[in-house]
Amino acid sequence: MYGLMRKWLFSKDAEQSHDFTLNMLKRFAHTPVSLAWRQRLQSKPVRVIGIDFPNPVGLAAGLDKNAECIDAFAQMGFGFIEVGTVTPRPQPGNPKPRLFRIVEKEAIINRMGFNNLGVDHLVEQVQLAQYKGVLGINIGKNKDTPEAEAVQDYLHCMRKVYSLASYITVNISSPNTPGLREFQHGSALHDLLSALKEEQNQLAQQHDKYVPIAVKIAPDLTDEGIRAITDALITHEIDAVIATNTTLSRDAVAGLPYADEAGGLSGRVLFDSSTHVVKIIAEHANGKLPIIAVGGIDSAEAAQAKLQAGASLVQIYTGFIYHGPQLVRNIVNAL
Ligand SMILES: Cc1cc2nc3c(=O)[nH]c(=O)nc-3n(C[C@H](O)[C@H](O)[C@H](O)COP(=O)(O)O)c2cc1C
Repeated sequence: MYGLMRKWLFSKDAEQSHDFTLNMLKRFAHTPVSLAWRQRLQSKPVRVIGIDFPNPVGLAAGLDKNAECIDAFAQMGFGFIEVGTVTPRPQPGNPKPRLFRIVEKEAIINRMGFNNLGVDHLVEQVQLAQYKGVLGINIGKNKDTPEAEAVQDYLHCMRKVYSLASYITVNISSPNTPGLREFQHGSALHDLLSALKEEQNQLAQQHDKYVPIAVKIAPDLTDEGIRAITDALITHEIDAVIATNTTLSRDAVAGLPYADEAGGLSGRVLFDSSTHVVKIIAEHANGKLPIIAVGGIDSAEAAQAKLQAGASLVQIYTGFIYHGPQLVRNIVNAL
């Protein structure tokens, strides 16, 4: 089914296909059309960061930025869904074109730049959804917020989504928001983490509910950098790490069409570097920091390799674009 659909979608511009598909999923989730993507998967429960997941396969951030298709993705059998990245105010993102398929390698390059309708819209959408499963909400900063005020953007989003999220992801690793990755180091990282932790403690009291925080990191860090950020996350009692976002490297796609487009590269070509990050964190953290692995998972074997490398949960994005809901089923069945 998805094979046919994919053929048609891939004959169109990448972003148009994306928008079309999300519109379909949103409109038809509660109609018989949804039989086209609904699947009942085996239960493979796991408990991580105090949350019970029906299975460990999640939808990665960035596909449903505005949380408009939560019910449809739930119907596909995902064990958890991460929406966003959302920013305090709506913003258009970078000029188009900004999304490119490198079909030869089942890869994607994107420089979307956090195009989203803002956190208030996302909150409304989450409230409209019927989904009662595990929901991650991924937060970021607006492009035009100066770096010195970026922490306020994260806190603003955190307050808005706190009561609705199963966990909150702090995205400091998109390559498409200038300066964002600077929060992965030094005092900028420490200041951000302290502020987040303090806010989390206050919100936990206020809502009588503890919502774990995960920090999402880039694959483009040195081993030393990975260990340093792992130490910082543990010191600040951050609940989990998501490894990884897209890469700036082009080694694996050099010479192919679109390879020189600016942005983050994802898909199987990201698998090795992203899994390396998972391994380093797992060795260094020694069980003190749960890991959600994302990057290049395109098969059940790839998902298993992430778990073997030390992850407790996995997420998919690009593999899902190339293989459809069947990939979720294949992974869940194999676990
Ligand atoms: C088009 C596109 C948009 C993305 N947008 C976001 C985003 O808004 N926030 C985020 O944390 N990650 C975003 N990502 C990164 C993915 O969540 C994931 O970390 C990355 O693509 C690696 O996984 P994959 O190889 O399975 O795609 C995006 C990825 C793609 C391809």
